[in-house]
Amino acid sequence: MIKNNTIEIVKNHIRIEEIIGDFVSLKKKGNNLWANCPFHNERTPSFSVSPNKGIYKCFGCDAKGDAINFLMELEGMTFVDAIKYIAKRYGVEIEEDNEKVDFNKNEKEFLYIIYDLAKEYFKNNLYNTDEGKQICLKYLENRNIDKKFIDKFDIGFSLNDWEGFYNFAKHKGYSKDKLINTGLIIHKEERNRIYDRFRSRVIFPIHNVYGKVIAFAGRKLSEHIEGPKYINSPESLIFHKSNILYGIYHAKKSLKEENNCFLVEGYTDVISLHSINISNVVASGGTSLTENQIKLISRFTKNVTIIFDGDDAGILASLRSIDIILNQGLNVKIVVLPKGEDPDSFIRSKGSKDFKTYLQDNTKDFITYKANILTQNIKNDPVKRAEAISDIMKSILAIPDRIKRTIFIKECSKILEINEDVLVNEYNQINDNIVSSNFNENNKLRLPNKNLNLKIEDIIKILEKEIVSMLLKYSNQKLSSDLTLKEYILNEIEEIQFFDHNCKIIIEEFRNQNAADINYFLNIENIELKNYVIDLIATKNEMSNNWEDRLGHHITKEENNLENSAYKNILKLKLYTIRKLIIENQEFLKTELKSDELQERLNIHSYLKSKEKDISQKLGIVALDIHKI
Ligand code: UTP
Ligand code: MN
Repeated sequence: MIKNNTIEIVKNHIRIEEIIGDFVSLKKKGNNLWANCPFHNERTPSFSVSPNKGIYKCFGCDAKGDAINFLMELEGMTFVDAIKYIAKRYGVEIEEDNEKVDFNKNEKEFLYIIYDLAKEYFKNNLYNTDEGKQICLKYLENRNIDKKFIDKFDIGFSLNDWEGFYNFAKHKGYSKDKLINTGLIIHKEERNRIYDRFRSRVIFPIHNVYGKVIAFAGRKLSEHIEGPKYINSPESLIFHKSNILYGIYHAKKSLKEENNCFLVEGYTDVISLHSINISNVVASGGTSLTENQIKLISRFTKNVTIIFDGDDAGILASLRSIDIILNQGLNVKIVVLPKGEDPDSFIRSKGSKDFKTYLQDNTKDFITYKANILTQNIKNDPVKRAEAISDIMKSILAIPDRIKRTIFIKECSKILEINEDVLVNEYNQINDNIVSSNFNENNKLRLPNKNLNLKIEDIIKILEKEIVSMLLKYSNQKLSSDLTLKEYILNEIEEIQFFDHNCKIIIEEFRNQNAADINYFLNIENIELKNYVIDLIATKNEMSNNWEDRLGHHITKEENNLENSAYKNILKLKLYTIRKLIIENQEFLKTELKSDELQERLNIHSYLKSKEKDISQKLGIVALDIHKI
């Protein structure tokens, strides 16, 4: 358990733009920073980070919270993980109570601990056992993998021992069943045998985005050993193969810096590229990318350069699957290595300089590459040619950006030696087919309902929110009267009953002095209230809430003069509250009333009317016919 005051110290170091910036490429615009939202698919940024407020909010999918929430939600960290991660990032030492972790409580936490333990175990095998030194270190040396990169990638070794890790972990006090659940130990029920999953293999740990080991890949040490070349950890609560890319943790910083991601197939390819100072590289593990993996890359850069091993069959087969990368709005380039080479073997045989030159000379835009390769040998076969054209048009159609699509159609018209109009026609036909298969008649898109006639209750709620949001944002700012804004507002709204439940609670917390400012609500356990507060204070830019456009004159924004804005909004709230009461009272007047009741209602009416007039005058508004609001 981390001590409470340690948590506070760690929290004080947080610069939310730095924490989130480690995972998402942020661009500054106004007071906030913006990115395409990592929580949902989008092509224009609606994810905002406010350094001043310490919060993020997506105006598209409504994800929101503070830096810790971000780590927990995006990366699946536990609270403790998030605190530790932040501490490490800012070099804060963590003080822990000696209480033992309750493993039953958190299965994920347990898996992280075991995988970390196993990582250390495998590393120790590599460096400190005869077998490790003589066989595995030799192997790595032969492959030219430098000590520096063995360390960096936490490479290890699993002994030629059926129960090496099992015994090691048992001695540490972990039960058999718990260990079997980790996937590091295999239980063959028929023969009731228990043994290590990884034996006699080089171990490549797979790290998640924030550097925790979540799985292992084990490569056999020679071709003579039976079994597949690589074996992997099974899927688990912390490891979903289709969501992760090998090398992402070590690449993420330079993905942003270089604004490009090299995609290779193999683990060793990643390490080889690092060894020649190319660190913006990740490996797919030999399968085509999933949507989540593409999303992962696009958090850091929108440009992907795929490095294909030089074997023709493999490339042709992968071409089609690249459409989903285009579809996510990424720019795709490709390089095909000479026949028989993968990046690792090329670098080893030809050296760093040749490899880099080769990349420079042979990187091609994906669409033009595809157009070229598909039409190479089929010039005289009209059927195949038509198929190829259709295939290329599908790829172009996958590109979200209209201008880019137009450019590619022009380009392909040259390569394919086909009139542009014919291509556009083909394109439109495919487009029609796709559209009609995705939408049935009942599923036509409708324009949003732009109803500007707000109900009086809506106006009241919006004013309530505006006032409470000022209260939260500027609680302790001094006004000319020497009151703080908080004191001023609380005084002024004393007699107003707020409708909105959460606004009521917030005001109460200020009144009874639980809350001194917004921080109280940002650290509160009540997640609903916390989210409510974030919604209130998060604005697309400082002067515009999303409902502002619809409201026009009904609310007054903060402007330069806090006092005046607060004053006006409170008056307006009073005005609309009174108007609401007038309407309600009028409803009574329409019903059959006894004479004393009638008199009473009429008195109320004139009282409310005179109040309305008072306030309207103060606001410089003419008292309106109630039915016209
Ligand atoms: P390769 O067979 O090209 O291996 O598979 P490699 O990465 O070049 O490894 P070395 O250089 O021979 O040591 C490419 C990738 O496919 C996955 C691995 O991710 C591998 O890095 N793979 C391959 C497996 O998962 N299992 C296998 O049996 C083989
Ligand atoms: Mn290889």
